[in-house]
Formats: sequence, structure tokens, C-alpha cells
Amino acid sequence: MSENTNNVPVLELKNLVVHYETQDGVAEAVNGISLKVNASETLGLVGETGAGKTTIALTAMGLLPDVGHVIEGEILLDGKPITITSRKKRDKKHYNKMMRAFRGGVMGMIFQDPMSALNPVMYVGDQIAEVVRLHNSVTKTEAKQRAIEMMETVGIPGARYNEYPHQFSGGMKQRIVIAMALACNPRVLLADEPTTALDVTIQAQVLDLMRDLQKKFKTATLMITHDLGVVAETCDSVAVIYAGEVVEYGTAEHIFNNTKHPYTMALFNALPSLDKDVDRLHSIQGLVTDPMDLPEHCSFCERCTERCDACSIIDPVTTEVEPGHLVKCIKYMSQESIDAMLASKAEGKEAK
Ligand SMILES: Nc1ncnc2c1ncn2[C@@H]1O[C@H](COP(=O)(O)OP(=O)(O)OP(=O)(O)O)[C@@H](O)[C@H]1O
Ligand SMILES: [Mg+2]
Repeated sequence: MSENTNNVPVLELKNLVVHYETQDGVAEAVNGISLKVNASETLGLVGETGAGKTTIALTAMGLLPDVGHVIEGEILLDGKPITITSRKKRDKKHYNKMMRAFRGGVMGMIFQDPMSALNPVMYVGDQIAEVVRLHNSVTKTEAKQRAIEMMETVGIPGARYNEYPHQFSGGMKQRIVIAMALACNPRVLLADEPTTALDVTIQAQVLDLMRDLQKKFKTATLMITHDLGVVAETCDSVAVIYAGEVVEYGTAEHIFNNTKHPYTMALFNALPSLDKDVDRLHSIQGLVTDPMDLPEHCSFCERCTERCDACSIIDPVTTEVEPGHLVKCIKYMSQESIDAMLASKAEGKEAK
């Protein structure tokens, strides 16, 4: 893969739509997401459980399960599309072959559950060396050397090469998974809740480590988390995801200091604060919207404390509230465009 020289984002998602087609129905997990990540930058994907965060990463890695399909849109790596919407077996076979070359080499992923990402009956060092050998024409000895180097980079003595995953603590296993994901200096790192399973001190160490490695390798990172503290520490820009859509997007500064969407505000209100003296923490009322039963109007409306009548009729369009700060909420649309959407809705109903 050629180096990125003309300001093309390393990773770009364009109007991505992903569905899971199951016996119980179709789960509309990702519904038209567009995002960009540049070299040396970290984009945070934040949202409650079931928002579609992991689905986005799995789609980018070409690791969707058989029931998962890209319905529309594309993912571009250095400006070149790497997704297919075809369901033909022949196309899928060709696609899987192409993605195998990217995975681990150009793109690395830290999986949501690192404990199950490691092979329990293989030495950890060999697991890292295997990735190196798969993507580089190196000898066994060179791959082993690189694996030891990576173990030491993540703070694990190379002397522990010939040990099994169960001989390491949770935090150490997480570091090994990070070493595996970064062993081939990937251009893109998809980190799916990389610190959720760790206690806070180890979490801080792992985040520091990821930041150092990012500086060293200029990696474009997609940081998936529901922890706003992790976002504050690591992300340059943030996309807040609800029901498979970006409801607010901006720089970390926009999201933290000029929060606009009622959902983002609710996420912040749910955080404990040392300055506020409250008996109980705020929670967001109601349940996460069911992706098998998405409404035609705003998907957050039933849980929103700021909803108006129009919210349960139309699906808001995204508005740029300040340069680079996008919000998908009726509150920021002009009255003119709300009226136009309401009128076209009413016309549609009459026509039926
Ligand atoms: N293999 C699958 N089959 C059917 N539905 C699925 C499958 N995997 C995910 N889904 C559904 O797609 C939606 C998005 O799931 P996803 O795992 O992407 O969410 P997430 O944002 O990563 O959540 P979490 O924070 O819990 O990890 C969910 O409603 C989930 O139930
Ligand atoms: Mg997930």
C-alpha cells in the first residue's frame, strides 16, 4: 500500500449501512455513517451498548459474520474502497482474500474481548511472531526477534516469550494483544474498548502506551469506547453514535466544551462529578432503540427530555452548528426546513 501523501484520510467511511439478517428479522445496526481518520489522529466512537460501534470496526476489517451485510456505502483505505455490497460467493471469496492481506498488516484491531483474542495453547511470543511472518517476508528468527522487540515495547520482558496467555495478568494480556495489533506497524488501528477490562491504573498505562506507539508509528486510530474519560484523554475528534447514526461529531473541544445534542448531554450528565452534590446519578430514561424496529422519525426522541411534537414525525437532518461541529437534532434545524419536512411528510401520508 502506498504512503498517504495528498491529504487523503487513511480511513474513511462513506454513508455506511450495515444490516444483520437473522431468523428473527433484520437488525439495522449501522445506518448511514460517514467518518474520516487521518494519520497520527485518533477518532473516538462513543455510544451506549448496541449503538453499532463494533459493527463499524468489524466491517472495516472485513470480519462481519455471515449474517452481516454491507447494504450501502463504502469504507476507503488511503482513498481505495475495501468493502463490498455483493452477496455472491465468488465475490466474497475474492474479498476475503484481499482483506486477509490487509488484516494485521495495514490494519490492526484490538478486539473488545482481549482475553478470548489470544490462543490459549500457543506461546504468546509465537502468536506475535505469526502475525509478523504472515505479512512480511522474514525468516523465523527475524519474526521472533521482532516479536520480542514488540513485547518489550509494550513493557513485557522478552524472556517471557515462551509462556502461555494464562500465565499473564489481565493487563499484560491486553498489552500482548496491543503488541500483536501493532507488530506490523499498521496504518490503521481499530481499538474496540481496549481498556474496559482493566483497572484504572493499568488503564492509564495502556492508554499512555497506545499514545506513544501512535506517535512512533503515525497510526490512524479509531478508539471505540463508552468511557468519556478515555475519550478526553486520547481523542482528537469524537463521533457520538446512537442507533447506528452519528448524532454529534466534532473535535474533542466541541464535544466536551460546547455539547449540543441532547443525547451527548445525557451521556455527560450520567457521569459522576466531584463538583456536583447529588444523591443519585442521572440515567438516560428508557431503553436503547431496538435496531430491529427503528422508527422513521428521530430514533432518540422517545428518550429525549427536550423533544417537541415534530420530533416524533420527522427524522432530523444534520446541521453544522459551527465549523466542523455537526449535530443531528431538530433543535438546530431552521424552522423553514422543519416546516418543509413536515409538509412533505403530510403529503406522503395523504398520497397513501
Ligand atoms: N451477529 C449478529 N447477529 C445479529 N445481530 C447482531 C449481531 N452482532 C450485532 N448485532 C446487533 O447489532 C447491533 C449493534 O451491535 P454492536 O455489537 O455493533 O454494538 P456496540 O455499539 O459495539 O455495543 P457494545 O457497547 O455493547 O459493544 C446490536 O443491536 C446487536 O444486537
Ligand atoms: Mg461493541
